[in-house]
Amino acid sequence: MKFSASTLLLSAQAAAAALNNGTNPSEVPYYGLSPPVYPAPVGNGTSDRSWAKAYKKAKALTAQFTLEEKMNVTNGFEGLCVGNTGAVPRFGIPSLCFADAPDGVRGQEFVSAFPAGLHLAATFNKDLMYKYGKALGEEYYGKGIHVALGPSAGPMGRVMRGGRNWEGLSPDPSLAAVAMGAITRGIQDSGVIATAKHWLLNEQEARRRPSVDESTPERRVTDEAISSNADDRTIHELYAFPFMNALKEGAGSVMCSYQRANHSYACQNSKLMNGILKTQLGFEGFVVSDWRGQRSGVASANAGLDVVMPDHGFWGEKLVEAVNNGSVSEERMTDMATRVLATWYYLEQENNFPETTYRSYSTVGDPVNVQADHSDLIREIGAAGTVLVKNVNKTLPLKDVKMVSVYGYDATVPQSPWQNPNRYGGGYEVNFGWNTFNGTLVTGGGSGISTPPYVVSPFHAISDRIAKNKGTIRWDFYSEAPGPHYVNTEACLVFINGYASESFDRVSLTDEFSDNLVINVASMCPNTIVTMHHTGARTVDAWIDHPNVTAVIYGGLPGQESGNSLADVLFGDVNPTGKLPFTIAKKEEDYGELLNSTNSKDFFPEANFTEGLYIDYRYFDKKNITPLYEFGFGLSYTTFGFSNLETAVKADVNMDEFPDPEIDIIQGGHPELWDVVATVKAHVENTGDVDGAEIAQLYIGVPGDDTPARQLRGFERVGPLVPGQNHRAVFELTRRDLSTWDVEAQQWRFRRGTYKVYVGSSSRKLPLEGTITIE
Ligand code: NOJ
Repeated sequence: MKFSASTLLLSAQAAAAALNNGTNPSEVPYYGLSPPVYPAPVGNGTSDRSWAKAYKKAKALTAQFTLEEKMNVTNGFEGLCVGNTGAVPRFGIPSLCFADAPDGVRGQEFVSAFPAGLHLAATFNKDLMYKYGKALGEEYYGKGIHVALGPSAGPMGRVMRGGRNWEGLSPDPSLAAVAMGAITRGIQDSGVIATAKHWLLNEQEARRRPSVDESTPERRVTDEAISSNADDRTIHELYAFPFMNALKEGAGSVMCSYQRANHSYACQNSKLMNGILKTQLGFEGFVVSDWRGQRSGVASANAGLDVVMPDHGFWGEKLVEAVNNGSVSEERMTDMATRVLATWYYLEQENNFPETTYRSYSTVGDPVNVQADHSDLIREIGAAGTVLVKNVNKTLPLKDVKMVSVYGYDATVPQSPWQNPNRYGGGYEVNFGWNTFNGTLVTGGGSGISTPPYVVSPFHAISDRIAKNKGTIRWDFYSEAPGPHYVNTEACLVFINGYASESFDRVSLTDEFSDNLVINVASMCPNTIVTMHHTGARTVDAWIDHPNVTAVIYGGLPGQESGNSLADVLFGDVNPTGKLPFTIAKKEEDYGELLNSTNSKDFFPEANFTEGLYIDYRYFDKKNITPLYEFGFGLSYTTFGFSNLETAVKADVNMDEFPDPEIDIIQGGHPELWDVVATVKAHVENTGDVDGAEIAQLYIGVPGDDTPARQLRGFERVGPLVPGQNHRAVFELTRRDLSTWDVEAQQWRFRRGTYKVYVGSSSRKLPLEGTITIE
């Protein structure tokens, strides 16, 4: 079947319409199709003066490069780091060092373990998001790493059991977008190139890569990777949306993902790379393949891939040959090299960049200590992303307690020597399983893990508090049914966790041992306080209604200061402000088709994103399913009231339906997308009896019935407020916030009409309602 540009457009419209009237969009031709977009746009630095300056220098160099030298800077080579480009000694261009992970420099000593992305998202705190990126960037910089392989907004968390959701930020595009922008800016303000990953639709681990028979000379593919099939509007409004903010903040690198997207491998998908990323979003930097994610030579080059990792993949000398025989234009190859060098200049890495002391997987004896005082920030973010969801009769904070008992292996540090006497505890070893008899979970598994220099366990931090208060602490870390000896202490603190990792998806959101432990303790102890460390949503239906379960905390993946962060909340030094960055269903089945990744035995497996825009809370709203704890929910030790909603539309900006076509696209998209077009204000008052801050949340209902009923479009931390005090939250709405992606016009477009405005403390507790009218 052949598609012309106009059939594509019509089909795209049909796909969008199909989504709205309930037809299965997978039956519509455009759905699952990646229309060809060629040639690859040539980077030119027109986004701003810094890019222009960087491009001028880069172009002057690449004009003198031989083809082999261009090949060098665009290919992976053996070296110190997880990825290394080739050097060009003739011009003093060094090999660039690429290293993981989004929550800390992985596999090294004297580095910090930051909270995971999902934990950061739970803070709903823009200031902390920036500081996180800044501190992380400083650590990369100190180790001489040019390119940080993060932040991640893919997976977003479409599939609740997805193995890598914790590395990303949130299934809500606005929350993820704000975090992506802030982290990117932070990392790059430290002089390190940030890599927004994984572009795009990388929502599950199952069959994310093809199976290759390495014993055959042609490396025969025995199974292709999953194809994530999504319609154009969903791609723009949901999955690409967070990446836009990273680009707006100058992201120098984007990593294309392993799987197929609309049937074309992401690292050779011209629609995604040449089309959306480099044309619509004006990307000036370079696209790097995920590690061994390149599936072709000529096709990937022409589709917009700029750097292959970790080795030559299908390029190397073959790329030079392809240019010599005309399969890839020399202009394309020059552009690839120019993009790499321009990004290097953009970050000013030519000036005194530290020597690379990073060593791939070897951890002994690296003298460079980059931890600085980041532990304070880590502790603060750890507490700020801790979410309190149940607190009966002010069980928490624990005030002047003298005796507590602690249960569950998640309370203590991992017992690695128990598991394997040849292994040390801590460090890289934290990646080795978190089952029974392991320890507290501070990060997940796979390439996205941090490497803690030390771990403050919950037990350690709680012991410290009890010791200071001249109290007594008792514990049983490993029993599933602890004996009754100490259950009449003032509080029974139960710790459970849920592990997940790159390369496989979860099989359950719960585990029997943990649920049994909670029930067993609660059956004897009238004051059972449960803390979960988890890599994503964790359902709690087995025990949440137990009358003896008096307080429940979603403790996320807090990084090295885990216990301190938690104790700060438990003992009331920090009044919690954390909010759930995902929906907790009453039972797993309530997530419906979005519970599991797609498992298929087909040679060409398919994951059909037929739910379109409706993932997480948007799905629950659409299906009218009441969650247990909704997106955005989290308790404080005080209470808040909301009043005085005011909305205003700006008078001094372009309010035409489409952004001005005369204005050029810059990195991040059309500049007018970021214009503030409306403001919303509301008063937040501390109506309780202790000091506290609240995360005020703004949700928008776009006119028309083809869009989620409510979408988060703003969040502001208000406070701390003393009891009785009130403060105004001011939300600024950009053109993009109030637009939908018009598939036909291939533009963001205002919907004329009345937008609903909701302000409150979660996606379902929205006491203030108003409107904004765009005429
Ligand atoms: C594969 C992962 O998908 C990616 O996120 C990571 O950066 C690379 N491996 C390098 O370790």
